[in-house]
Amino acid sequence: MGQVLSVVSQKGGVGKTTTAVNLAAAFARRGQRTLLVDVDPQGAVRYGAGLRRGHATRGFFDYITGQSGLREIILPTQLPWLRVLLVGTVTEAANHAGYQSLVADTDMLRDVLTEARSRCDVVIVDTPPGLGAIVRRALEASQHALVTLQCEPLALQTTPQILRAIQDIAATNGELTLDGILLTMYEASNPACVRVAEYVRKHLPADMVLDIVVPRSAAAADAFAAGQPVVLRTPADPAAQAYVNLATLLAERFQ
Ligand SMILES: Nc1ncnc2c1ncn2[C@@H]1O[C@H](COP(=O)(O)OP(=O)(O)O)[C@@H](O)[C@H]1O
Ligand SMILES: [Mg+2]
Repeated sequence: MGQVLSVVSQKGGVGKTTTAVNLAAAFARRGQRTLLVDVDPQGAVRYGAGLRRGHATRGFFDYITGQSGLREIILPTQLPWLRVLLVGTVTEAANHAGYQSLVADTDMLRDVLTEARSRCDVVIVDTPPGLGAIVRRALEASQHALVTLQCEPLALQTTPQILRAIQDIAATNGELTLDGILLTMYEASNPACVRVAEYVRKHLPADMVLDIVVPRSAAAADAFAAGQPVVLRTPADPAAQAYVNLATLLAERFQ
């Protein structure tokens, strides 16, 4: 059985999708059969994962509403070991409430992730921000959680909520481990950013904040804009290397 890792955060815009996409690509480059699953109705994975031109836009939502079979919506990428399950056409819908309640009130997400784990080594789940039903459902069916935290002043106020939620879910899902908090968009030249990082390390348990830090880099933002993981587009970039190192660390833990 493969391992399911959900990338979560209390806030939006803190590097979740960038982390999910690049970790997935880094695992696949290691030769591990990897599936990247998007359950965020915003559907940003579609723009960053390096999908082939003209790919299908249907995905998880279309499967759970009975409009698509799983096989036709698992998309290939430029990496032989990386496949992607987009969130699907819910992205174009004005109202996401139906999607929310379908995920909240059924076991379909668990079923899809369980099926995925039986066929893959690693399943990475990109989630919407916050602690809504979709994120809880994803964590209930995960073995691993990674929390992304951007080094800005509000970071420490919002982090305890997500940590508590992971703890709550781990009380019923005995398989769930918090792999750590990943500092993202880190700027060593920005004193406020350095201060927040130091504060976070001081106030959270020592082994909770990962030593690996993802620096803010122009290449990471450019890669996303160009629709590709930075680990493939600019592998020598420091943010790309951070993601490769993180995949190496996690792969050791997953064994
Ligand atoms: N290491 C980084 N360096 C520069 N820009 C980044 C980095 N990580 C993320 N970004 C940019 O920050 C924005 C938010 O990132 P994203 O991964 O979409 O966050 P989330 O999924 O949490 O909303 C995007 O425009 C993305 O390109
Ligand atoms: Mg996102």
